Amino acid sequence: MWLGVDYYPEQWPEERWPVDAKLMKEAGLTIVRLAEFAWSHIEPEEGRFDFSWLDRAIDILRGHDIRVVLGTPTAAPPAWLIKRHPEVLPHDYTRTPKSFGIRRHYCFNSEAYHDHAKAIAGEMARHYCANPAIVGWQIDNEFGCHDTTRCYCENCARAFRRWLRAKYGSVTDLNAAWGTAFWSQEFTEWDQIPLPWKSVEAQAAYNPSLLLDYYRFASDSVVAFQEMQVDVLRDLCPRHFITHNLMGTFDQIDYFDLAADLDFVSWDNYPNYWDSSPHPTGMSHDLMWGVRACNFWVMEQQSGAIGWNTFGRSPPPGVIRMWTYQAIGHGAETVVYFRWRTARAGTEQFWHGILDHHGSPGRRYDEVARTGAELHKHAHEWSRGCHVNQVAIMVSYPIAWSLQIQPQNTGLSYWREVHRMYEALRKLGIGVDLIPTGGNLSGYKLVIAPLLVLVDVPLARRLEDYVTGGGRLVCTFRTGLKDENNIVTDQPLPGRLAGLLGIRVAEYDSLPPSAAMAVKVLASGAEVKGRIWADIIEPDSAEVLAVYTEAPWAGRAAATANRAGNGTAWYIGTALDQDFYADLFRRIAGQAGIRRLAWVPEGVDASTRWVNGKQVIFLVNPYGHAQRLDLDRQYHSILDGKAVSGRVDLPGYGVMVLKTEEKAEKPGR
Ligand code: GAL
Ligand code: ZN
Repeated sequence: MWLGVDYYPEQWPEERWPVDAKLMKEAGLTIVRLAEFAWSHIEPEEGRFDFSWLDRAIDILRGHDIRVVLGTPTAAPPAWLIKRHPEVLPHDYTRTPKSFGIRRHYCFNSEAYHDHAKAIAGEMARHYCANPAIVGWQIDNEFGCHDTTRCYCENCARAFRRWLRAKYGSVTDLNAAWGTAFWSQEFTEWDQIPLPWKSVEAQAAYNPSLLLDYYRFASDSVVAFQEMQVDVLRDLCPRHFITHNLMGTFDQIDYFDLAADLDFVSWDNYPNYWDSSPHPTGMSHDLMWGVRACNFWVMEQQSGAIGWNTFGRSPPPGVIRMWTYQAIGHGAETVVYFRWRTARAGTEQFWHGILDHHGSPGRRYDEVARTGAELHKHAHEWSRGCHVNQVAIMVSYPIAWSLQIQPQNTGLSYWREVHRMYEALRKLGIGVDLIPTGGNLSGYKLVIAPLLVLVDVPLARRLEDYVTGGGRLVCTFRTGLKDENNIVTDQPLPGRLAGLLGIRVAEYDSLPPSAAMAVKVLASGAEVKGRIWADIIEPDSAEVLAVYTEAPWAGRAAATANRAGNGTAWYIGTALDQDFYADLFRRIAGQAGIRRLAWVPEGVDASTRWVNGKQVIFLVNPYGHAQRLDLDRQYHSILDGKAVSGRVDLPGYGVMVLKTEEKAEKPGR
């Protein structure tokens, strides 16, 4: 396990570099990411490479036992490149080129850019493949940041048509798949097909099937750009790992596809929270675990107050450490802080790092140093340990896109609904994997598939097999609405899953933002509220779990459960209060024998790593006040070496790492 920092020697005088390296070493930092924006410094003019400064910086770091991850600098094409190849600039949807002047000003489909990116990655790889300080590569930086996934240049239009041709074969088939008979949109030639350029209405008024394919194409273009660099680096530096820094729940790129080419994913974590729920950040960590199904790195971890031209509060004492342990508990193998010293120049002058502008160690440096010392002492206890979860939430980027294009209800957000389920589970002390719709389900005791809008035949079949084989599936409103082309089903909802769920949606009602329909849970008599949406469910073989108690739907079913083969499939027709899900998941967990850390209070984030058959539990308190734990047994508290049991206070912003002495049975799925 490493702790590290993002460092920009090119932004500071060279005399300072040894001071920085010494301070890093003293803080226990053993890894540094370098150069991901240093193109103009490495190649000041076309074909003239200057690695001398970077070599010197790396030597100094190495002299302090610090290893290096190098970024390929392709997130920031230099001015000379843009002057020579203005066609590299991406276009917005009014077909206007975006200017040089910030970063990420390039089109993923530009041939000239592919050539230059390949050349700089190759030069760097050749220069550094044998340098013993280098351990791996980060390709580019945060693909898609600043809304740069989707480009609208002519080049992209041509590439989109090629992509469509490969997918559909003929314009006739494309017309059928998109339903272009609507509004006289039938195509007879490939080059008639537009990108969703500015037209008479907002972009979202384009044919939803065209839009969904365009979003898929844009995501594929990023994956192909990354793959080009992966190939160069794998070839020249076979001993080095390759990663990219993703952005949590950012969703313009299909992260399952992007992650597939990497050795592991990294991500940039700016939680900017304390005194509030840890679960939004926890969910991002778990998604970053899920997109590659393996432990990850945090390549940028917030270490100060953040913002560009205005900025927010400074994380209070303890919070940087708390975030670090939260990341580790959820599967981070390495945490790298952003950034070493707060920049004196440039756009991010107020995005604070470990050191302030003046460069002298202060309170945040001390906290990092204490955390570093602690990790050096104890990280072997959990290193490479990995969580084993029995519950999965299914997520899909094409579904997120379909709902971006048509949210259907102004209050509906894909990630918010995913989080609703996620948080309910996490508050019960249940670990969750976030998995793709094509993921292997057989290992899970419970699978939750929120807003499963797009259901193709293979997915319907896999869900059926899973449930009839003994699985438990929870679906929600809008399930089975469309096929993979974004075309609405001609079956009663929930479409292809109606049989499995044992229901028919007789009617649906998209609720205004202020509306909350009263719902009664039959088993308990509890009253809860349903928001956003109301499906009026006709049970077929399903049993009714909850009914609306309010006009105009009073007495009609709002949630059901259906036995199918050896399993059960639930359907929830409205966005219910979290109490409902908490109750449902608690009951399912009880019946299915799903492991819970039931003694952890709701406001504490608890996660588990399994190491050689032993369980290591990470508890972090995101609130400034102490929270009481009610330990279920005696544990060894790793960080302070004490035995703990019974009632224990976890201090404000505090951390506890617990292990059991005896080997435990790893949970079966
Ligand atoms: C990330 C990015 C960094 C830096 C940081 C603060 O998005 O990767 O380069 O910009 O945010 O804004
Ligand atoms: Zn383009």
